[in-house]
Amino acid sequence: MTNNRPSPVGIMRLINGYWATGILAAAATHKVFTHLENGAETATELAERAGIAERGAQTLLDGLVSVGLAELHEGHYRNTPEAATYLVEDTPVSLAPFARLKLTHTGALTDLAEVVRVGGPVKDVVVEVANNPHWEGIVTAIAAQSVPAATIAAEVLGLADAGEISILDVGGGSGIYSGIWLEANPAARATQLDWEPINEIARRLLTERGVGDRFTTLAGDFHTTDFGTAQYDIAVYSHIAHQEGPESNVEVFTRLRQALKPGGTLVVNDYVVDDDRGGPQFPLLFASEMLLKTRQGSTWRRSDYREWLIKAGFEDVSFHTAEPGTLVVAK
Ligand SMILES: C[S@@+](CC[C@H](N)C(=O)[O-])C[C@H]1O[C@@H](n2cnc3c(N)ncnc32)[C@H](O)[C@@H]1O
Repeated sequence: MTNNRPSPVGIMRLINGYWATGILAAAATHKVFTHLENGAETATELAERAGIAERGAQTLLDGLVSVGLAELHEGHYRNTPEAATYLVEDTPVSLAPFARLKLTHTGALTDLAEVVRVGGPVKDVVVEVANNPHWEGIVTAIAAQSVPAATIAAEVLGLADAGEISILDVGGGSGIYSGIWLEANPAARATQLDWEPINEIARRLLTERGVGDRFTTLAGDFHTTDFGTAQYDIAVYSHIAHQEGPESNVEVFTRLRQALKPGGTLVVNDYVVDDDRGGPQFPLLFASEMLLKTRQGSTWRRSDYREWLIKAGFEDVSFHTAEPGTLVVAK
């Protein structure tokens, strides 16, 4: 009897996809990528440097080879280029803290079937709660994700040569945009609006970067806090539009247009879906996170952003890749 069925391997990988999350988080917990980078090449060497069991080290290495984060050559392991870039500890772009954090979120997925049935969160909502301590764990862990986007945005906007500009970052979190942009332009000043416990974290991090004297904060809910009028040259709204519904996004973009000087620029960074909803992969999947955690959020299409920004009074909207997100630049 011939078997014309397709292979079940892809589906088996998806069913057990949580193994990959677990292996990655456990490897990050034991700083495996850093040890590999520093020359550990075998399970024995890794076990010794990481202070873990040799059986555990071998299992982690096997798992990392399986998920494409380690390479094996004649009995010697090393990081793949991706792992070497993004998973070694204590670099500006290290996603290792984020990998550790996300493992703690996996339990929430058991609610997804019910969340899908009712069309929104079934337990506590996350983003609609004022001063939610949820953000304190998140903002430093996700800062590394924003480094490439903030760097690309600085180039697109020509920030380094823009002189004495003022910047408004709504929902700035760790202050990563302000940090990178103030370093790029020593004449610039930045203001961040966020909840006060988060602003406190941002002030500490920007002081550590040596740019704290050009950084101020406003505390409160961005839905109700005044952004001012014709005050800023640049405004940024990064990884927030996905937690909001269409009405709120138009409302915030309208107030941001008003807060900008004539000719000022708004940069939105987010996971943006193609207009036909055919991709990219990451934004399509991220919508489930917003269904779990928000009443109105989702990943929005390029056409949604264009429509909302024009409605808000911007005249020119362009898109720039900053994987896995997209920079939406509106003037
Ligand atoms: C996903 S983080 C993004 C942080 C930063 N913009 C980035 O891209 O790295 C969302 C941020 O928005 C803030 N935030 C969410 N809802 C808010 C609200 N209603 N008012 C003020 N800040 C809010 C959170 O405290 C958090 O710092």
